[in-house]
Amino acid sequence: MSDHMYKRILIKISGGALAKETGFGIDNTKLEKIAEEILKLINEGIEIAIVIGGGNFWRGRSTSDMDKSTADYMGMLATTINALALQDYIENHVNLETRVMSAIDMKEIAEPYIKRKAVKHLEKGRVVIFAAGTGNPFFTTDTAAALRAAEIDADVILLAKNIDGVYDSDPKVNKNAKKYDTISYKKLINQELGVMDATAVTMCKENHIPILVFDLNQPFSISRSCFGEEVGTIIEEE
Ligand code: GTP
Repeated sequence: MSDHMYKRILIKISGGALAKETGFGIDNTKLEKIAEEILKLINEGIEIAIVIGGGNFWRGRSTSDMDKSTADYMGMLATTINALALQDYIENHVNLETRVMSAIDMKEIAEPYIKRKAVKHLEKGRVVIFAAGTGNPFFTTDTAAALRAAEIDADVILLAKNIDGVYDSDPKVNKNAKKYDTISYKKLINQELGVMDATAVTMCKENHIPILVFDLNQPFSISRSCFGEEVGTIIEEE
């Protein structure tokens, strides 16, 4: 076994990271990349939990004038579609055991989320995929990631993005934007850098969970970040 920094990790994957070029649906090549990296980490003895977003199916909050709770519940269902797709891919293509646990009771589709059961699954080397966010409207899937990471005592949140870290301004707009290697929770919140919402960052701060922001599109980005290579930005205490 090679050296790695973490024993138990929580990977947050946005729905958008699974999308096809149109920004919608599920691109199997993205599932393949994630599944292969997860296999590598499991083989190193790292325990893996995943929180997945739903933006590749539904972004109701920002695009419709419907009731906010209803839009958020639809988003939670979208995360469940992604969780099942990822479970199916991981089990059938890299042959790992997985469990989907849902924050909203839908017993026919997934196990209910029970913290102690989730920890048992992780200890048995199963990949645990958390579906349906926190189960409550008005909370993002980033906050679900922070909540679950705190509950299962994860060593780190790996926040997979389409950008390779945290910048002091939007690099798409500002050519001279500077990337941080590390940044404090406090600075991230105060500067409203928009990487993760303030509720999620605050929860990580209070529970001393570092967040590693990295670009999912770069080769082996998940595993490299686990082996301590400088692949993105670490958000932690000052
Ligand atoms: P242990 O035997 O305790 O290590 O865990 P296990 O998950 O293998 O045991 P269990 O018998 O609870 O689960 C067997 C299978 O049924 C697994 O694939 C679970 O994901 C699935 N399963 C368990 N509970 C539920 C549930 O409430 N709903 C659904 N849809 N599937 C479930």
